[in-house]
Amino acid sequence: MPSLDQFAQAKLEALQRRNLRRALTETWREDGLWVERDGRRLLSFYCNDYLNLTQHPAIKRAAIAAVERYGAGSGASRLVTGNHPLYAELEARLATIKGTEAAVVFGSGYLANTGIIPVLIGRGGLVLADELSHACLFAGAQLSRGKVLMFRHNDVAHARALLAEHRKAHDQALIVTDGVFSMDGDLAPLAELLTLAQEHDAWLMSDDAHGLGVVGGGRGSSFVGNGYVAAPLQMGTLSKAIGAYGGYLCASGPVIDLMRNRARTLIYSTGLPPAIVAGAIAALDLIEREPDYAAQPVKKAKAFTRRVGLPEAQSPIVPVIVGEEEATLAASRLLAEQGFLAAPIRPPTVPAGTARLRLTFTAQHPDEEVARLADLVRDRILAA
Ligand SMILES: Cc1ncc(COP(=O)(O)O)c(C=O)c1O
Repeated sequence: MPSLDQFAQAKLEALQRRNLRRALTETWREDGLWVERDGRRLLSFYCNDYLNLTQHPAIKRAAIAAVERYGAGSGASRLVTGNHPLYAELEARLATIKGTEAAVVFGSGYLANTGIIPVLIGRGGLVLADELSHACLFAGAQLSRGKVLMFRHNDVAHARALLAEHRKAHDQALIVTDGVFSMDGDLAPLAELLTLAQEHDAWLMSDDAHGLGVVGGGRGSSFVGNGYVAAPLQMGTLSKAIGAYGGYLCASGPVIDLMRNRARTLIYSTGLPPAIVAGAIAALDLIEREPDYAAQPVKKAKAFTRRVGLPEAQSPIVPVIVGEEEATLAASRLLAEQGFLAAPIRPPTVPAGTARLRLTFTAQHPDEEVARLADLVRDRILAA
């Protein structure tokens, strides 16, 4: 066997031994709610399509019209000829929703984080990240070549201690955190983190991938509760509740202009297809028009946690922590036998010993199915 294949095979076998080998499963998402997998039709609690907008007729129509008008692809980087007219509209809409001066759209959330952080932080800089931040925030932090420190999850006192110790030795400092945590569904203490950042001349960046469209009246995690948390860097993705694709940063005019000039993942990557941008605009229209609809996923998640007896959901994401990988796989199989898709999440996506079912609730989940799922989780998984 060639050495390259031997290398790959050995790595795969090591993953297999630890029950961590993954495979892609073909999934047919009929209507954004029901999925067909391995010949089975299952009600999905495993999509980030919180508002079921990937299949919304008005959004599909907007995407199709954009293909007809502007073509299937953008043809080049935005800085070359890929900056089709729909971009300006989407960026203006995002800035208005987030309450910032300007916005810039990237190819994805991952590309946004790996592009933004190295523009702001260099070798002499400091990145302080919540330990449960999404992998692409850490990827961006590593690419910056600055010093990267983690603070304990949502522990502002720990972040404060780290800043007190390390801030002075660095030119710039950036605090990064998910606004809604992708695997735990809880919210970051953004107001406290902003105050802390200001006290130490550090900059706060929130990643609102799982907040836009579903919390804070649809405007995201800076808008939860009383008062707006004016984090100077608010990034997010258009691939979850928005049902499209792409990432964004909302910030001041100068910061956005700097990104357009320096963010390598923006400059050296092709612009998004017009259909995707048109779909995102149509989704934002719908969210603005129908705030009650945008509130549904969190409502369903709360009904679930109440019935199971778990801490109250703060977002559409509810972790059911099982612990060991084998038991988590078994729990997922049990739910599939009952018609539910609730796939297991294992390390390294989550810390060792916290393998879980990550349930995501969407606007159109029938209440009686949410109740049936809750009873199964309470009686057959958590009681086992
Ligand atoms: C918190 C968070 N940030 C960023 C991303 C990446 O976004 P995208 O899927 O648009 O690359 C994700 C999910 O994929 C996420 O959960």
